[in-house]
Amino acid sequence: MEVMKRNFTILIICLLIMSLSFIALSMSLASKAEAAEAGEIPMPVSINSLMVTMIDHSAHYIWDYAALEDRMLEEEWLAVEYYAIQLAAAGPMLTLGGTGEVDEAWVQSPGWTSFARDMSTAALKALNAAEIQDLALLRTAGDELLDSCLGCHRAFKPESPTEGVIHDPFYDELYHLFHREGEI
Ligand code: HEC
Repeated sequence: MEVMKRNFTILIICLLIMSLSFIALSMSLASKAEAAEAGEIPMPVSINSLMVTMIDHSAHYIWDYAALEDRMLEEEWLAVEYYAIQLAAAGPMLTLGGTGEVDEAWVQSPGWTSFARDMSTAALKALNAAEIQDLALLRTAGDELLDSCLGCHRAFKPESPTEGVIHDPFYDELYHLFHREGEI
């Protein structure tokens, strides 16, 4: 009888230890899943494609509007605002790498982040110009924007793009969506 009682106690203790370990295990798995959820999302596209479809595209709108001779319309300022926001956000995106074969190496190179920051800063200036509808400020922002593109391109851009993506012919017809009477 005594032996049975002791065995029973041992069995209960074993079951207790097992269920406690299960609880601990499931808690640790849950927290790992949470960490993965909260962690980074790898950039799913290449820097080459981002340059062409987002950065070059939005910058062209800013430059095109900045080059207008006469008074800009309300909705044209709105378009500048729209593309300046895209471009400002593209700066930090450029620091996240990408799927291109050289992308990871580029984002880790000295100087890269500073060019990306300059681009964002110039885009914010264009955004500010749009908010206060100041064409002279938009032109200055456009010049600073160009400096940031050229600076980074001189330092990093290869002779021909790694993935062969360029705006002409792939996306050319999307580049100048605005049409004014008598203008291109
Ligand atoms: C932080 C660095 C950096 C900045 C800032 C930057 N670029 Fe780029 N850009 C690159 C690199 C690197 C490539 C080459 C990508 C490749 O070949 O995979 C590239 C490629 C391009 C391409 C496609 C290749 C081609 O020859 O047509 C275009 C278009 C482009 N950039 C436009 C711009 C414009 C416009 C700006 C500024 C508004 C800009 N870039 C700002 C680094 C930068």
